[in-house]
Amino acid sequence: MCGIIGYVGSQDVAPILIDGLKRLEYRGYDSAGIVIIDKEAQLFRAVGKVSNLEKRIGSHPLVGSLGMAHTRWATHGKPSEPNAHPHADCHGRLFIIHNGIIENFQTLKQDLLDEGHTFRSETDSEVIAHLIEKYYDGNLAEAVRRALARVDGTFGLAVIHKDHLDQAIVARRSSPLILGIGDGEHFFASDVAALVKHTKRVVYLDENEMAVLTPHHFTIGSLDKPDLVHSSSRTVHVDWDITAAEKQGYSHFMLKEIFEQPEAVRNAFRGRLLPAKGTAKLGGLDSVIDRLQAAHRIIIISCGTSYHAGLLGRYVLEELTDLSVEVDLASEFRYRKLNFRYGTVVLGISQSGETADTLAAVREAQTRGALALGLVNVVGSSIARETSAGVYNHAGPEISVASTKSFISQVTILTLISLMLGRLQKLSLRDGKAIITALEKLPSQIETILSNADEILRIAKKFADYKNFLYLGRKYSYPVALEGALKLKEISYLHAEGYAAGEMKHGPIALIDRQLPSICIVPRDSSYPKMVSNIQETKARDGRVIAIATQGDDKLRSILRVEDGTDEIFYIPETLEILSPILSVVPLQLLAYYVADLNGCDIDKPRNLAKSVTVE
Ligand code: G6P
Repeated sequence: MCGIIGYVGSQDVAPILIDGLKRLEYRGYDSAGIVIIDKEAQLFRAVGKVSNLEKRIGSHPLVGSLGMAHTRWATHGKPSEPNAHPHADCHGRLFIIHNGIIENFQTLKQDLLDEGHTFRSETDSEVIAHLIEKYYDGNLAEAVRRALARVDGTFGLAVIHKDHLDQAIVARRSSPLILGIGDGEHFFASDVAALVKHTKRVVYLDENEMAVLTPHHFTIGSLDKPDLVHSSSRTVHVDWDITAAEKQGYSHFMLKEIFEQPEAVRNAFRGRLLPAKGTAKLGGLDSVIDRLQAAHRIIIISCGTSYHAGLLGRYVLEELTDLSVEVDLASEFRYRKLNFRYGTVVLGISQSGETADTLAAVREAQTRGALALGLVNVVGSSIARETSAGVYNHAGPEISVASTKSFISQVTILTLISLMLGRLQKLSLRDGKAIITALEKLPSQIETILSNADEILRIAKKFADYKNFLYLGRKYSYPVALEGALKLKEISYLHAEGYAAGEMKHGPIALIDRQLPSICIVPRDSSYPKMVSNIQETKARDGRVIAIATQGDDKLRSILRVEDGTDEIFYIPETLEILSPILSVVPLQLLAYYVADLNGCDIDKPRNLAKSVTVE
């Protein structure tokens, strides 16, 4: 959620930190702060975006080669300057930046107040600065370890001290922390996106680990033990390109990522299709293939857009295999008294691989004996590392808070998993080959849709002033309706509800009038006739319809009032029913984007949201 970037080396640190903050802004952005220590500590904080922090710094010359910076997404204490990180100890000698939540901070704070410490913020994080101060006797690493032993909760933590100008200390529990390895310099960050400009060599800290970084050296160890050791074998190479994390001429990351979707689908299946055998090969699942074959039940757990991908995964897994499939929101999964028998597989889907609820649910499933798998985009993220096996999306960095290309990639990979398992069961070679042929056509079909983006812009202009929207779909198009509605509400703050079209008559139909446009996802598939009936019911009540339909569907055109401008149809190319969401979601993403843009919304950084939700 919040973002961390820090540096110890010999370069002028200020530009590195400000650039890193801008790259992290998508993680959380209600306030930002920076501290650089040279002869003196230079601390600046500001409410709002990084640009406000830059204004706050103004012409003040920031000097030094040790520093760290933070973008905050408030949990404890409102967004304000005193609550922004970094936080200092009583005497401004040491500074901390913290992502996560300290659950026992009230008790710790009271003890520290009783001992005479002075607090300046309402945050839970500040207790860590004072605890370290309390335990500091010249050995900063030891003081950090002793402080963290008192803390319940989660942390991605960074600490620097005036007495240690060549040292930064970081630690993690449930909140990501990555070391960037340079020559004569080291970086640390909550997110690879902030590092790749400087180095592609990184070390992912594991749970309950801490590290001490100096310009020429780094050591890592467990929070429970005093020994820290150098371990170059932990260094991995990140293949993300810096240009992938830049807008490249697009007005927003979201639009860029929507236009990257043909490539995201290609990357999802590249090297994974075996056309002659009508199946897919997913190397990341090789080690568990026997257990997968023996499985009788799959539970998919995820949040947000990844949850919608999971809902689609259920339809396609059930269609192509004999497995019984459940999908649950990670935040709810944990409250269920599930009876796991041998043969239960839990699949966590997460773009970031860090979503706290999904991570906790995966851990919970593992402790209850399930085989836990991950479908993750961010290489080396917590879910990727903590699951027994899994598949990477290879969709490249997704910066926009509203997820687009990851969703399409997740659905593509869920289809590959279903195809692979289906072929190991009863799915015929012929059907397997047909799915591969249709999959391979998808990138160019998405390109066709994108080449008609202006048509969606025209429709968006007509409807941008409406305040409420209903999204309707059946079967494969139901999760698409949910996703379309989520996209609109996330970035435009307009009320949008996704509904199973069959449920319309049990409630939402009461809302239908000319002021409530219905976005109907109605490709020509097995649920088409019933969906058309729902559209007719809407029209009979004077509702306006925007239909997403299959190219050449003239029947629908005759039902809708397209000619007089009341209704709209946007056509998508024909594909297999199981793949239709990968096409039908694209116009909905564009519609949400254009409506939000026309309403002047901050698309890549919608209010109150964060890209990676690392609190529960
Ligand atoms: C946040 C993001 C969403 C994302 C969800 C799950 O809410 O704003 O775009 O779908 O988290 O994230 P994950 O990284 O687990 O897919």
